Amino acid sequence: MSYLAFLRDKAKGYSLGLMLRLEFESLFFGLAGLVPTTFGVFVRAAICKLFLKSCRGLSWIQPRVTIVHGDRITVGSHFAVNSGTYINGFGGIEMGSHVLIGSNVTISSGQHPIDGRLPPVFARQSLPKKIVIEDDVWIGAGAVIMPGVRLAQGTVVGANAVVTRDTEPYSIVVGAPAHKIRNR
Ligand SMILES: CC(C)(COP(=O)(O)OP(=O)(O)OC[C@H]1O[C@@H](n2cnc3c(N)ncnc32)[C@H](O)[C@@H]1OP(=O)(O)O)[C@@H](O)C(=O)NCCC(=O)NCCS
Repeated sequence: MSYLAFLRDKAKGYSLGLMLRLEFESLFFGLAGLVPTTFGVFVRAAICKLFLKSCRGLSWIQPRVTIVHGDRITVGSHFAVNSGTYINGFGGIEMGSHVLIGSNVTISSGQHPIDGRLPPVFARQSLPKKIVIEDDVWIGAGAVIMPGVRLAQGTVVGANAVVTRDTEPYSIVVGAPAHKIRNR
């Protein structure tokens, strides 16, 4: 498949309005991500209010955080994210209040189907898989939250964990795949 044909195929589910929205979202978050911390958190908080489906109360977002498909993401109050984190709301992401996300975390709610060998995975449309992150969750640096996972209230995710399954309330999970080491 030529790259142009791939792009045409990829654009199929996207209206012109949605494509423009994604472009502006990328531009605004990209520029806001360059503004240093103290002033920048206010700019990014305002952009969250503008581009997310819902963003209640305060948010504290460090520089260089990427948010895509924000119109499918809801966050509660006291939302904090550290630098380098990537959040893709393609399949929908619901976050509660007091969610703290470390640096370089990946939370992406879409997955490419992998059954069979053709067409190449590269050329397949993503499947939406909603992620839910309940109140009072802390996600350590470098963790990956897999599509379709629910992090129950009070979960702590250790640094570099890969969370492939739903967690129990107030559990601490570490490793790849993540497993529970104890309750809080
Ligand atoms: C998950 C975490 C909170 C656990 O802290 P804790 O309860 O003090 O845990 P301990 O240090 O007592 O470790 C308990 C066991 O889990 C292991 N462990 C702890 N964190 C781990 C991690 N991230 N990955 C793999 N194993 C881990 C320890 O090696 C130890 O194993 P052992 O019993 O075989 O020796 C912490 O280790 C962590 O990862 N914090 C995230 C830090 C971070 O990312 N900060 C920046 C972002 S804001």
